[in-house]
Amino acid sequence: MGTVGSYAKAAFNESAVFIMGRMDLDITNVNQIKKVFDKIKPTVVIHLAALTNVDLCEKNPDLAKKINADGTKNMTLIAKKYNIPFVYISTSAVFDGKNLPNEGYSEEDQPHPANVYAKTKLLGEEIVKENIKDYIIVRGAWMIGGGKKEKKFISYIFDKIKNGETLRVVNDRFGTLTYAKDLLEFVKERLSRKEFGLFHFGSKGMCSRFDIANFIKKEFRSNSIIEPVSSKEFAEQFPAPRPTYEVIKSVKFPLTSSWQTTLKNYMENDLL
Ligand SMILES: NC(=O)c1ccc[n+]([C@@H]2O[C@H](COP(=O)([O-])OP(=O)(O)OC[C@H]3O[C@@H](n4cnc5c(N)ncnc54)[C@H](OP(=O)(O)O)[C@@H]3O)[C@@H](O)[C@H]2O)c1
Repeated sequence: MGTVGSYAKAAFNESAVFIMGRMDLDITNVNQIKKVFDKIKPTVVIHLAALTNVDLCEKNPDLAKKINADGTKNMTLIAKKYNIPFVYISTSAVFDGKNLPNEGYSEEDQPHPANVYAKTKLLGEEIVKENIKDYIIVRGAWMIGGGKKEKKFISYIFDKIKNGETLRVVNDRFGTLTYAKDLLEFVKERLSRKEFGLFHFGSKGMCSRFDIANFIKKEFRSNSIIEPVSSKEFAEQFPAPRPTYEVIKSVKFPLTSSWQTTLKNYMENDLL
């Protein structure tokens, strides 16, 4: 189960929801999707499956397109047959970070993706708009969630900071945070109010990974040393181009929680 998917059981009524991982439903397999849809006759689809490893996408653009764009198309075409609402989670990475508007990009700004992952996710958005009448597209920012099982940035640095280790952390790329649990609550609310369209969802303000590490250090009164480094130092490990600014805002539902509050909630709910 993916990071966002891991909160689906808690967010939605368990008896009425089918949560599927790749083993149950491969979105690149049209026949399998047909079979699953015909069996469970869904009344709404929340499509979370994606190839999210940005560097893997850059190295394998065909695979990225196959899953993020063609896979999304397969899902929409069958959902279209059932004429049901369709939710697609996209990304703040559809913006290249250049000419950052005041306080970030809104739903009204023109996307311009800087890497293969973001290009294929944007293609997915276009496919959803083309094929589905009642669509909800939510662009999330840097996704946090999944607790200790998740192996991304926060869980990676969390124990190290708590243990007082020295860390070198990038300070020249900026984004904002989306807590996967809050994202599904946002989706649930839009669905219940039948509010369809494109939305941005995340936290207020912007932070670098260096800011995040320092916030965690302060919260735990850790003696950890956090050294700021340029993203250039990690260029070999993470070669895909990434925007300097992945900061979003919303003109539809202005973001209310600061990134610090969002991060604190996540740590309290899932990491402590
Ligand atoms: N992660 C972020 O920072 C971020 C930010 C903004 C938006 N988003 C979007 O939010 C959504 C959820 O992301 P996430 O953070 O939960 O990602 P995640 O943790 O990487 O989960 C993605 C899930 O998709 C599954 N998957 C991959 N290929 C599949 C296929 N062919 N058929 C069925 N399932 C497949 C993966 O299964 P395996 O593990 O078996 O590969 C994984 O369980 C995605 O659409 C993503 O693009 C993510």
